[in-house]
Amino acid sequence: MKMGKASVTICDYLMTGNDIKKKILGFFRKNAGNYVSGEEMGNALGVSRACVWKYINKLRDDGHVVDAVPRLGYRLKSAPDKLFGYEIKTGLKTRVMGKKEIYYHESIGSTNDLAYKLAEVGKGEGTLVVAESQSRGKGRMGRSWVSPKGGGIYMSLILRPDVETDEVPSITLIAAKSITRIINKITGIDAKIKWPNDIVIDGKKVCGILTEIKAHPDRADFLILGIGINVNTPAEKLPPAGTSLKNETHFFVNRAQLLRDTLEGFEKDYYVFKKEGFSSLREECKKLSLILKKKVKITEHHRTIRGTAVDIDEKGALIIKDEKGALRRVFSGDVTMIGT
Ligand code: BTN
Repeated sequence: MKMGKASVTICDYLMTGNDIKKKILGFFRKNAGNYVSGEEMGNALGVSRACVWKYINKLRDDGHVVDAVPRLGYRLKSAPDKLFGYEIKTGLKTRVMGKKEIYYHESIGSTNDLAYKLAEVGKGEGTLVVAESQSRGKGRMGRSWVSPKGGGIYMSLILRPDVETDEVPSITLIAAKSITRIINKITGIDAKIKWPNDIVIDGKKVCGILTEIKAHPDRADFLILGIGINVNTPAEKLPPAGTSLKNETHFFVNRAQLLRDTLEGFEKDYYVFKKEGFSSLREECKKLSLILKKKVKITEHHRTIRGTAVDIDEKGALIIKDEKGALRRVFSGDVTMIGT
């Protein structure tokens, strides 16, 4: 039997299906709105036209609308609003974050829990878990994170920064800074960081970050950076103190693009942190802070401190000048503003 190019192809052996989907989407993006021939894509990918056709149909099964016209080829008419790994990877300009393994789930208990298990079995830095909804989304201090389907980003990144445990809060703060910058850039609104790691718009929470850590006595073995962003979620599906980007701007925000921006923005800052420490990023964190110079009440476990937030120190801790004029260092807690 004559073995044609179509019968034994790289399509089935060298690339995973998701690689092929990602590459086909890459062609569509580059040729925005235009037809691309199956032959051209097949030649560039080293696969047959039949293979391209097979994966076009798989993309259709995932919700992509693709036109096919004889002699012209294929054209992407619309993409589903989903956070598939191959969708996130298409055009992702990171070196590590989300670059290798992405674990996608339509629904999951908590992305942090899965990422933690994956880190325990040795998965590397940058491994990403992402879901369309969570049934047991976790917030800070034992709270839950409301994670309805379709409008949010629920993601967890494995990090292996080789730092002492007291540096971990500054990594969370850096993530808050990166995401706040991105939100402000794409929406034109003035989101702020409510220390330690909430992002708020006009006092309402749009993003929360939960960092979980596995530590040896002093050093972090790995961190799970869990990020929840209310993107297009309708207000009625959120708690009263929450809001979403769409709710604030009235514009639909492309979640896959925002997730890519988040990975890219965070990676850049994370490498600055690894090279130079928190000091290079501290000023920008302070600039974006909602609570500096404000009167606040901080509840940390069983103690409450009242005073004025005066600084964020070189480890990311909050410095409070209390009612007696003493400076107090706070590493975590719930902040309430009690005046201006
Ligand atoms: C908070 O503000 O209390 C932190 C919320 C963190 C929510 C995210 S959503 C993705 C990841 N998985 C979780 O279970 N929680 C974090």
